[in-house]
Amino acid sequence: MRLRQRQRNYAHERQAFLREVDATARAARADRQDFLGWSGTRDLRVSALVDEARHVKSIYLTDPDGGSLPRFEPGQYITCHFETAAGEKPLVRCYSLSDRPRDEYYRLTIKLLEPPSSNESQVPAGRASSRMHALAIGDRLAASAPRGGFFLDPRRQLPLVLVAGGIGVTPLASMLAELAETNDSRDVYFFYGVRNSCEHPLREQIEEFAAEHANIRMCVAYSQPLPDDREGGDYQLRGRLSIETIHRVVPAGQFDYYLCGPGEMMEQLVEGLLASGVPEERILYEAFGPASIRRAALPQASPATAAADWPPIVRLASSSQQASWDDDCESLLELIEGLGVDIDSGCRAGSCGMCAARVLEGNVITVKQAGAAAPDGYCLACISVPTSPLVLEL
Ligand SMILES: Cc1cc2nc3c(=O)[nH]c(=O)nc-3n(C[C@H](O)[C@H](O)[C@H](O)COP(=O)(O)OP(=O)(O)OC[C@H]3O[C@@H](n4cnc5c(N)ncnc54)[C@H](O)[C@@H]3O)c2cc1C
Ligand code: FES
Repeated sequence: MRLRQRQRNYAHERQAFLREVDATARAARADRQDFLGWSGTRDLRVSALVDEARHVKSIYLTDPDGGSLPRFEPGQYITCHFETAAGEKPLVRCYSLSDRPRDEYYRLTIKLLEPPSSNESQVPAGRASSRMHALAIGDRLAASAPRGGFFLDPRRQLPLVLVAGGIGVTPLASMLAELAETNDSRDVYFFYGVRNSCEHPLREQIEEFAAEHANIRMCVAYSQPLPDDREGGDYQLRGRLSIETIHRVVPAGQFDYYLCGPGEMMEQLVEGLLASGVPEERILYEAFGPASIRRAALPQASPATAAADWPPIVRLASSSQQASWDDDCESLLELIEGLGVDIDSGCRAGSCGMCAARVLEGNVITVKQAGAAAPDGYCLACISVPTSPLVLEL
């Protein structure tokens, strides 16, 4: 082989090797809870506010001193801590970073959670989202560092199917921005289900990515289009996103699937993908609320435990309360709250670490991948269920 050719091959291999090293290091950093951009909380400054859709606002956060912000992986979130009156429970919520990683700012895109339309029992609007929507430029927001296991994994190089529903578009918008702005050449199928043009956030930016990158294909489904919404223009499909739609649009082949949206949509899609033979490790998802997709087999009375120990007793040592485990409970958090015992919680999805409870005896399993790490000997009550009689310190 000629020297020039050998040099070219070597340069090519070296670049591939360096890319692999970089991808492995980034993924390892994102996975490690002790490698956070900062510890505890720090103040971020609200530097711009943009109305994105009905009741959806983007909030641009910067370093108050004008410095650069630590990097994150597209798909990760920050955890926001709001001041509360003395004696009130802490108010902590997670919000995904909706733009690609940049040094200058973090962008959050937040939906104001309204009370139900027939609000006879005077249910208030969402507490944290109301506070977010009331922020003004110059205000400060206390936040913990970006984290979370749902991110565009740089080690994976398969073509991608990104599926978003409602405000679940935020982590996927970050992934899409990263793919577009780094000119990633993989095929990307982006599906988005939302009610109509009035409720369609981040639309222009996402449409631009698809228009400028032939490898990014977009399919928007409106479930309740407005009279002026044009099929083939504003949206491509009428109705809800379904597994059939995905199969119709995505060609045969191997893909990584990233999903984020309402529980019901995710449940149907994840089940549909598994049923159609997509291996579990290629389906990655984030739920914004209580863990609604339970992929881990839930514990049940096994031959060994059936007779005496099932359902197991959950005992709360400090408050001297106890109850039999109830299979209708989503998690230990629900059981504990049902007993009237005080326990902190934030995200209710294993992401903020607020509900960590010390396990004195017994075992639990988690029903959802945790985004936050519980200290040794503790469990995250919002995503844990008992597998044996249990004693918690609470
Ligand atoms: C990893 C992660 C990422 C997320 N990313 C985003 C994001 O990018 N954008 C985003 O908008 N959200 C995101 N969320 C959701 C967000 O964290 C909050 O859950 C959401 O903003 C609602 O919080 P809230 O305090 O406003 O509502 P809450 O006060 O918790 O209320 C929730 C709902 O319950 C109703 N409610 C309140 N009180 C009662 C009552 N007494 N009885 C019955 N109903 C009641 C409210 O009207 C509201 O509709 C994310 C969540 C997670 C876990
Ligand atoms: S409430 Fe956030 S981890 Fe449990």
